[in-house]
Parts: sequence; C-alpha cells; structure tokens
Amino acid sequence: QVSFKLEDHPKLPKGKRIAVVVLDGWGEYKPDQYNCIHVAQTPTMDSLKQGAPDRWRLIRAHGNAVGLPTEDDMGNSEVGHNALGAGRIFAQGAKLVDLALASGKIYDGEGFKYISESFEKGTLHLIGLLSDGGVHSRLDQLQLLLKGASERGAKRIRVHVLTDGRDVLDGSSVGFVETLENDLAKLREKGVDARIASGGGRMYVTMDRYENDWDVVKRGWDAQVLGEAPHKFKNAVEAVKKLRENANDQYLPPFVIVDDNNKAVGPIVDGDAVVTINFRADRMVMLAKALEYQDCNKFDRVRVPKIRYAGMLQYDGELKLPSRYLVSPPEIDRTSGEYLVHNGVRTFACSETVKFGHVTFFWNGNRSGYFNPQMEEYVEIPSDVGITFNVQPKMKALEIGEKARDAILSGKFDQVRVNIPNGDMVGHTGDIEATVVACKAADEAVKMILDAIEQVGGIYIVTADHGNAEDMVKRNKSGEPLLDKNGDLQILTSHTCQPVPIAIGGPGLAPGVRFRSDVPNGGLANVAATVMNLHGFVAPNDYKTTLIEVADN
Ligand code: 3PG
Ligand code: CO
Repeated sequence: QVSFKLEDHPKLPKGKRIAVVVLDGWGEYKPDQYNCIHVAQTPTMDSLKQGAPDRWRLIRAHGNAVGLPTEDDMGNSEVGHNALGAGRIFAQGAKLVDLALASGKIYDGEGFKYISESFEKGTLHLIGLLSDGGVHSRLDQLQLLLKGASERGAKRIRVHVLTDGRDVLDGSSVGFVETLENDLAKLREKGVDARIASGGGRMYVTMDRYENDWDVVKRGWDAQVLGEAPHKFKNAVEAVKKLRENANDQYLPPFVIVDDNNKAVGPIVDGDAVVTINFRADRMVMLAKALEYQDCNKFDRVRVPKIRYAGMLQYDGELKLPSRYLVSPPEIDRTSGEYLVHNGVRTFACSETVKFGHVTFFWNGNRSGYFNPQMEEYVEIPSDVGITFNVQPKMKALEIGEKARDAILSGKFDQVRVNIPNGDMVGHTGDIEATVVACKAADEAVKMILDAIEQVGGIYIVTADHGNAEDMVKRNKSGEPLLDKNGDLQILTSHTCQPVPIAIGGPGLAPGVRFRSDVPNGGLANVAATVMNLHGFVAPNDYKTTLIEVADN
C-alpha cells in the first residue's frame, strides 16, 4: 500500500494558487529567421527570460532525459508530459519495444502467442505509422516484427501504412514505402505472402487523437478493414507518388492496393490477427477502441470482423485497452497529480482537444479519468475540426487563457494547469509565417494567465514539453540550413532536440526562491518536485530533484 502523504516543505508555505503553463513545442534556439519564437512578438516570454538565472533557465527535453533510446531522439509530447507529471524518467515505449525485440522476449509474451494462433488459417495485419521518426513508431521495429512473425509461422501478412511527414521530412514517405516493399519482396521469395494492403496520410487517415474527429478513423477503417477507398492502386510506391501530387505526406487520402481483378488485396476478415504497431498511445487509442469494443458506435463500422487483436503496447492503463499487447507499457505510477490530490491540492487542467490528453492523460501517466473528481476539474475546449492549423494559427489559445484565468480567479483551485498548443501544432504544418502568428498567440495566452496570478497573489511556473517552433529548417552539423536537390529550403515539420525554458515567479513566490545552480543537467522530470515545493511540499525521495532552493536573505 503506497502512502501518498507528502512531507511539508521546511520553508515554503501551502495554499498558494499556482499556474502551471506548458507551451507545446517551444524550445530555445539561436535567433534567426527560421526561429519563429524569435521572429514573433513574444513580450511576455521575453520578459520572463530577463529573470535568468534565478527565475529563468533551460532544461533538457529530449533523448535520455525523457526516457528515449538515444540522445539523437527529439522530444515529444507523450514522453515530455509523462516526465513533467511523473517526476521521474521511465524507459519509454520506443525503448521497451527495442529491448523486447532485441531479446526476442516479444515473441514469448501472451500477446504474441494470442495473435499467432491465427497464423495457420488467417492473415496477420500490421497497421501503423511508417517512418523512422521514433515518436509513435519506428520502421526498424516494424521490419524486425515482420521478420520475427514470419519466422514464427505467419504465412500471409498485410501491412496498412500511414505516411508521416510530421515527425520526419515531408516527401520521405516514398523512400519508406520503397524500403518496406523491398522487405516484403524478400519475404515473398521465402514463400510468405506479404504485401502492403492500404495506406493514407496519418493526419487524414486513422491517427486522430482525443476523439477530435472520428471521420479520420472511419476513413482508415474503410480502407484497412473493408478494403474500400476512393483511390485504388496496384502498387503502394506508385500510390504515394501519385497522391503526393495533391497532398503532402501527412494528408494523403486513403488508398487500397488491388489485384488484377480490381479486388482489394488485404481487407481484414474473420479469423485474422491485427497488430497496431505504434507504441505511442494517443493516436492509436481510437482505432484500438474500434477494433476491440464490440459495441463501439462512434462511426458505422459496417462489418466488424472477429479478429485476434493486439497493440504493440497497452495504450490506456485505466481502460486496459487493448486487452492484448506485445510489450508491457512503462509503469508510470505515483504521479505528482495523484500525490497532490491526496494532499488536498485542488486541480484544474485545460487545453483544447488536440492537446487535452497531454495535460491530463499523459500528465497522469497514461491514465484516463480523474484521481478524485471532487478535487479535480478537467476542461476540454473543442478544437477546430477538419482544418490544418496554419489556417487558424491562433487556435484556441485565447479561450484556454480565459478558462485558466477564470479558474485562477474563482478561488476553487490550488493548481491551474494548461497546455498551449500553438507553437507545436502550427509548427508541424511547416508554415513559417503561420507559426510566427501562432507563437504570438501563445505568448498572449501566457500573459492572460500571469495577469490573473498577479491579481490573486499567486505563483506561476511556465515551461514547455519539447522544441518545435524555434527551428523550422533542417540543418547540417554546423547549423546551416539545408537545401534539397531543387535548391529549396528543407522545412522541418518535426520537433527538435533543443532545450526548453522554465520560468518561475508571481507575487506569491516566497522571497529567496531561485533556481539552484547545482542541477545543470536538469530536465523535464525535475519539474514535478519543483511544483510540489511551490505547493508547500517535499517531493517523494525517488523523484528527480527539485530545481529550486530558498536562499536565506
Ligand atoms: C503528433 O502526434 O502530432 C506528432 O507526431 C508529435 O507531436 P506531439 O508529441 O507534440 O503531440
Ligand atoms: Co508535436
């Protein structure tokens, strides 16, 4: 039995109202024309920076600091918010899958045994994001799984690909599909009937999140399960090349691969096995529900095949979804949210739909729902649906700011936590001008929140989950922008490996509170203990150390 009682902080008082602001995709990088945060007017964030080094500093948000396999792995919102909320670094999905594949343990687990019972008579379907981005999935893991499954009896395999262009360069989908086609051809030489069966761009097909738009999942279902799509091709490389004429990788329309009789080569039917190969949860949970829940009525599934389904990981620890999985997810327990609620901290969390689960589900260790509904209120502001956010770069920043302000002023909450999505969501579109507008809007939202904190004598802590908007071009090792073969700038739609800022302040901050100078490598996981201190508590022993100290004046 875990005790959630926290010790009192020896110097810091309880009962302050605290705003915890996470700017999504807001890193620190050299000021040039591709740094949208630098180009944008961001007076609030600029003023916070003046507080360095005592009240502003940088922290690490990528690679090992957030539990990713290597230091070359850029940060992302899942691992970032996990670290922020949990106060410790957990080996994350990407790494756990690597280990399970390398040791072969993945094939000894319940999940693989379960799906392999379909190998004799049925088809094995693999559905997921096809890239080496390492945020939701990785191509090399898919390759190993294809090899391992075929060596263990899978005779007929169909891959349903989702093209990326968001965690990797736009246009790279062609190369990834070619690589996969080569692998599948080699499997065919060995007598395995292995093919790509369908595809589509991740943002238009399947990978919606937080139930923003079920049509996205439906388009995928139609292609993957029913074998129906507006575009039919004999060959996936040809499909992607052709469809790219009118859309970029993220938004390719759904297509199915057909045989000489124009019949889809790989619909999902009774007796088949299905694995969703993404390790990251947010953009696979909706499909997992459609595949696993008998009574899912979010869209008309038309035909619900009786399949053996497993996720690469279990995506939702609270819902136990999916019930079968190949690799056990990180056990992110005793998160700061859970502790604080047990210690009387009334909590409010808010973002718009596309990031709502980041400050709730990810923050709470991939757990949906409340710890204690009497103590918590989570507010979701509906995101615009069916647009790319460069057309609406202000998104719902103002609304999030207003909700947070009202929550702070209401006096009903001790912690008001928000995610402000603009830098990230607009940064992912690769539209530099729009991202500048996005950064300005995010800065204005921060101002609204800080003004409210000022009014109530509270404390703020402002940080970010990973970089994105601060660098919009691909660069060589010396940091110069790279051009493609046509001499065009290579736009970076993905996150970065840059550190992120963290600032503390507000009238309620006790005099003498400042960032310690002896945690130079501090990262996102150090934030939870810091927030606990500001609420007047000492963090549990195994939490990463706090970033602050109280100097005697
Ligand atoms: C996405 O899912 O949109 C990107 O792959 C990663 O973005 P996020 O980690 O900021 O959500
Ligand atoms: Co992002």
